[in-house]
Parts: sequence; structure tokens; C-alpha cells
Amino acid sequence: MSQFLPSVIITGTGAYAPANVVTNDDMAKIVDTSDDWIRSRSGISERRFAGDGESTSDMAVAAAAQAIDAAGIDRSEIDLVIVATMTPDMPFPSTACIVQSKLGLGNITAFDLQAACSGFIYALNTGSNMLRSGAYKKALIIGADKMSSVLDFEDRTTCVLFGDGASAVILEASDSAGVGILDSITGSDGSNPELLYQPAGGSSLPASTESVTARQHYIKMNGKEIFKLAVRVMGQVSCDILERNDYNTAQVDLVIPHQANMRIIDSLAKRIHLPLEKFHNNLDRFGNTSGASIGLALDEAFRAGRIRTGDLVLLVAFGAGLTWGSTLIKWQ
Ligand code: UT7
Repeated sequence: MSQFLPSVIITGTGAYAPANVVTNDDMAKIVDTSDDWIRSRSGISERRFAGDGESTSDMAVAAAAQAIDAAGIDRSEIDLVIVATMTPDMPFPSTACIVQSKLGLGNITAFDLQAACSGFIYALNTGSNMLRSGAYKKALIIGADKMSSVLDFEDRTTCVLFGDGASAVILEASDSAGVGILDSITGSDGSNPELLYQPAGGSSLPASTESVTARQHYIKMNGKEIFKLAVRVMGQVSCDILERNDYNTAQVDLVIPHQANMRIIDSLAKRIHLPLEKFHNNLDRFGNTSGASIGLALDEAFRAGRIRTGDLVLLVAFGAGLTWGSTLIKWQ
């Protein structure tokens, strides 16, 4: 076992969104909705849907290749890959194993992590702690979801909200103290899974002709309840992580929240007393891409020059489970 290393830094970011842009007007041709309703209730204008035959692992590989290039490392140096997804290529083997092979990585540790829309933060937390242990040196962390594969295009209350995409970061252990991923908090409450779930296709309700006929392989959501919980838990977990690291909200340079609904982000901003200008949002163009969402916004913000060395960046998410999490980064 190598020696303990104090810091874990992000050395490269990457993102991928499929080419196929689907506007709100396009959605209005499929379900009884309108551009005005979707924009005013969610802030979404368009989303991307994967092409025929394009899987979660294909999107993950594209985002990962970009992150690897940005980090300037050789693929052979990566010794850990975690894929946060709730729409894996197949129930097993893991999408991480498929990514390992498609990217030509070594025979390294590869696994999927399922925490729905909080997956990217859960994976950052898990990956950075595995690096801190000294057992791993360079981790590829991916958030990827092909939400269109589980959307019910007869349910206007859900299908207009989600999109497909992938994002990735390279984490590296570093011996400079006080930089990189300073801390993460993750939490869960599984007492009411039906708030946001896919009823069939797992061990409790395996796929059957009946389950397909009853459209039970698609997302079901109690949007109103999720909305209220999202604002509360994201507010709480944002304050908690700042407080336990002796920061206040005024010291935060940029917040990257899970991109689910602009009204949720507005309410979060008010709750933690930060102006919206301190948030980076792109849900207008991508919708809710679940596990990909935070990384997609992080990559965009970084490439747009919104994140500079020394900046304090707060990531915050919530999702099915319920799950939630926050990560505090001192950008290096
Ligand atoms: O990553 C976590 C994922 N989940 C979320 O983030 C969801 C959180 N929740 C939300 O974002 C919001 O609750 C929604 C966007 C899902 C819904 O917004 P809302 O303001 O809570 O609307 P609502 O559910 O109260 O629906 C208002 C009306 C209803 O009609 P009635 O009953 O008032 O006549 C709905 O049937 O809007 C109707 N409606 C629609 N109308 C046009 C629902 N979906 C649509 C639609 N187009 N797509």
C-alpha cells in the first residue's frame, strides 16, 4: 500500500450530449403539452435524445475520452472507473466494465454506482475516498444516463423533463494540501421509493408481458412532493457542508446544482441566500440528464472560464431514493 495522500484534485473534465436536439415544440407533437408550459414550469427549452443504437456506455466513453485528453494522461494510468447511472446498458454486467473495454483501459477496478440524480456526487465521494486511501492513483468518474430509454412518451408529466447525456472527470491524488475535493456529504431516505421510481424490471417485479402492458418499465414520479423535498434537502446539505468546513455562503464562487427544474434552483438560491448569478445552469438546453447533469454543467462552466484556480465550488444534488449530496471543491 502506498503512502497516505492528503488531497484529491480534478485534473480533467469532459461531457457528451447526443446530436439529436428535441425542442419543446417537438415534444408537443408527442404529448399534450406546450413550449409555454414546459418553459414556465421547468425552465427547459430543449433536450437531447440518444440516437438509435446509442447506449449509456457509448455516451460515457465519449465524455470520458474528453476528460482523459483534458487531464493529459495516458489511459494506462487510470486504475479505477466508476459509472454513476440508473440506466445501465443492461442489468449486468456493469456499464463500467463495458466502458473499461471500449476505452481500452487496463484490467482495473470498474463498477457502477446507483444513486439516481445524486449519482455524480456519490461517485465523486466514493472515488476520492478510494484515492485518499492510497490504494488508487487516478480515477475516471462518469455520470451517464439515457433517460429516453425509461421515459413514458404517453405521460406528459415526466417525459418532457428529462434528456440524455454523459459527463466525466479525472481524479488524481495530490500531495498539495487544502485543494481539490475538500469534502462531500451524501444521504438517503428510502422510506418512500414510489415518489420517483421505475416499478418493473428488477427482482421485485421482473419483466413480464403484464408489466410491459401496464407500462411499468417507465419512470413514475410524484413531481410536487419531489419538488418540495428537493428544495429542503439541497438547502440543508449545502449549508451543512459549508458549515463543517468553516465557510459561509458568501465565500462560494460558483454553485453547480442538479439540473432538474429552474424553479427548484430559484428556491434553493433564495433558501441559501445566494444570487442566481452564482449558479451555473444549462437545463434549458439539456433538461434533466440525471447522473450526467452536474458533470455536464461543471464541464461547461470550466470550459467557459467560470471556474478559476482558487475558486470555491459547491456541487449539490438530489434524486430518486431519495438520495442527496453535496461536494465542496477548492479548484486547483
Ligand atoms: O431529478 C429529480 C427529478 N424530478 C424532479 O425534479 C421533479 C420535481 N418536480 C417538478 O419539477 C414539478 O413538480 C413538475 C415540473 C414536475 C410539475 O410542475 P407543477 O407546478 O408541480 O405542476 P403540477 O404537477 O401541479 O401540474 C399542474 C398542471 C396539472 O393540470 P391540472 O391538474 O392543474 O389541470 C397537470 O396535469 O399542469 C398539468 N401538466 C401539464 N400540462 C402541460 C403536467 N404536465 C404537463 C405538461 N404539459 N407536460
